[in-house]
Formats: sequence, structure tokens, C-alpha cells
Amino acid sequence: MRAELRFTLNGAAVEAFVQPQARLLDVLRDTLGATGTKEGCSEGECGACTVLIDGRAVASCLFPALEAEGKRVVTVEGLRQDNGDPSAVQRAFIDKGGVQCGFCTPGMVMATTALLAENPAPTDDEIRAGLVGNLCRCTGYVQIIDAVKQAAGELATKERS
Ligand code: FES
Ligand code: FES
Repeated sequence: MRAELRFTLNGAAVEAFVQPQARLLDVLRDTLGATGTKEGCSEGECGACTVLIDGRAVASCLFPALEAEGKRVVTVEGLRQDNGDPSAVQRAFIDKGGVQCGFCTPGMVMATTALLAENPAPTDDEIRAGLVGNLCRCTGYVQIIDAVKQAAGELATKERS
């Protein structure tokens, strides 16, 4: 038997009828077409499926869809600025070469967005700790850390202006 689920996805009200045991990841990708969120390990280890729920970074492969009822869910599709430009975090990943195959990137970008909202000026160690749940097999992480620092700097400049 399916249950009705309503929440806000990237600023828009959505509804879906889901199985009680459905994972949020599947509802996002298969029911709502938000395929920017990726599935890697399926067991909470790689971070590819990270989305924001009420501002908190969450592994959507482990998150029961029905627990999203009434919440604000943001996926990588929702980070674009009003004028269509990528967010500062997305831009920084491109600029610094933090994207290679790109499979980890949506999760990295979402985790970074949550990290910088909580800690706008993280140290290298704090960046590593903030992204500890996100794995990348391509970049060696140096470019990713550089991207987080660039985004932090840009956001701080914007805040001051
Ligand atoms: S797919 Fe969810 S943490 Fe890996
Ligand atoms: S860019 Fe390939 S896994 Fe991170």
C-alpha cells in the first residue's frame, strides 16, 4: 500500500505516492526526476547521494522517504542562482578542477554547501572533517579542498558587499 508524501523540493511543493519502505533517493530520482543525485554504495558510505534536508546534509540512500514529509529538500538541481548561474560552490569545483568523472560531485557540492552554511571559514582540517563522508576516486581531494576554500572566499566577499 502506498502512502502520500508531500514536501518541498528545490523550493517547489511536490507530492508522491510511495511505498512505506521507499528510500528518499529513489523517490527523488525515479518518481520526481531529480537525477542529479547519484547512487554509489547504497549504504551510507560514499556520500554520492547527499542532499540537504532542512539545511542538513543527509545520505538519501539511507533516508526513509516518508520522513521527508513537510521538510525542505534541496538537491544539486536546486543550487543554481536565480539568474541561472551556478552557485559559488558549483563554480569553485569547476574552476579548481574538483570534478573529473563527476560521479561524486553532486554529493560533494551538497556537503560543501552545508559545511559553508554552518562554518563559513573552515580550516583545511575542518574541510576534511566536513567532507569525510564523501568519497572521490578521481581527484585525490586536493582540488576539492581548494574548491571549498575558493567558495568560502567568494561567499565571504559577497557577504561583505
Ligand atoms: S549511495 Fe548513499 S552514501 Fe553511497
Ligand atoms: S570526480 Fe570521479 S569520483 Fe570524484
